[in-house]
Amino acid sequence: MTLAPTPPPLRNPEAPAAADDLAALTRPDFPLLAQTACLGQPLIYLDYAATSQKPRQVLEALQHYYGHDNANVHRGAHQLSARATEGFEHARDKVAAFVGAASAREIVYTRNASEAINLVARTWGEANLRPGDEVLLSVMEHHSNLVPWQLLAARTGCVLRHAGLTESGELDLEDWRRQLTDRTRLVSLVQVSNTLGCLNPIAALAPLAHAAGALLLVDACQSLPHQRVNVAELGCDFLVGSSHKFCGPTGMGFLWAREALLEAMPPFLGGGEMIQDVGLDTSTWADLPHKFEAGTPAIGEAIGMGAAIDYLQAIGMDRIHAWEQRLTRQLFARLQAIEGLTILGPTPEQQPDRAALAAFHVEGLHAHDIAALLDSSGICIRSGHHCTQPLHRHYGLSGTARASLGFTTTPEEIDRFAEELSSTIGFLREHS
Ligand code: ALA
Repeated sequence: MTLAPTPPPLRNPEAPAAADDLAALTRPDFPLLAQTACLGQPLIYLDYAATSQKPRQVLEALQHYYGHDNANVHRGAHQLSARATEGFEHARDKVAAFVGAASAREIVYTRNASEAINLVARTWGEANLRPGDEVLLSVMEHHSNLVPWQLLAARTGCVLRHAGLTESGELDLEDWRRQLTDRTRLVSLVQVSNTLGCLNPIAALAPLAHAAGALLLVDACQSLPHQRVNVAELGCDFLVGSSHKFCGPTGMGFLWAREALLEAMPPFLGGGEMIQDVGLDTSTWADLPHKFEAGTPAIGEAIGMGAAIDYLQAIGMDRIHAWEQRLTRQLFARLQAIEGLTILGPTPEQQPDRAALAAFHVEGLHAHDIAALLDSSGICIRSGHHCTQPLHRHYGLSGTARASLGFTTTPEEIDRFAEELSSTIGFLREHS
């Protein structure tokens, strides 16, 4: 694929995007996907919700940085440091544009989304929550949007509430509204569930949260790789993301928050880089966003994340979403035809914008056995609780198998996966 020098303008929301074959367009950029698995079978990667594969443009950006510009940032007077700093800060501008932030001062680099949520819990949470104040979550949250609040509740005495699900595996909006009270100080919600695949109506919930006097944090890990995300349109107060989910390197994520909130929050970790002046007993803090970035950051990874954003923007997030919707319908049609297989979450008919993944269980079979046998046919899916143990318990399950797609997935791969899955289930039934 040849990248356009500047990202194309966002699609007019009135005009439906054509679902062009993005797998054909992008596969040459993904060297990992061209390899064969055991016995010369093609490798089929269907674990995008766990982590994405990386296009060569991202690999080249990393190599270029380490091969030409590597130095520490914001510290040296020399030319390498200046180039490293420029690349590092330019990547921050790209993240800001990617999520529609008002300025790059609102983007705090973190190691991942978990660290970004911990940052909010430790700084905003400890400064603002009192015993009896409530944090409203949901039962579909990833552990990273549960455990930091549990730790906060133990420290502050705040109370955690969890909205439930509808029959179709979507957020129960009535229950959510019931649990939003004048004690709620924060609502924290995943935009797209990594297990149910449902898309939560964040823009509709934000005014309700604000009217109740609460702030709204959005975990956008599973939406950023697949659709356009804009913090102003969502109306949220905090949003977190993880680079490795959207074609960037691991070890890099970000927190977006409105500037006034970040200004009012105390620092997170202490150390070099986040200070303005240090005395032996007291210190003052650097300006935003560096106040929250202690120590030498992941410089190459930030630059790689910027390259991933360039890559996605050059394709266009609406095009990616349209193509993946087509793949999702195919995936569901194929899986629904398998007897005894149940998929969690809404169908594409119930929720056309749902994510391109299917977490499923098969009566009488263990998800790990299914995944292990598929692996021997070169097909990579995930099995287990996918970091959503409470959600699995809600369904009385210890785990599920999950196929999650990306824009590089081909319709032929979905067909092959469905055929291998049917044979695997047949084999396991016969031998159990
Ligand atoms: N949260 C990641 C997943 O859903 C790791 O697999």
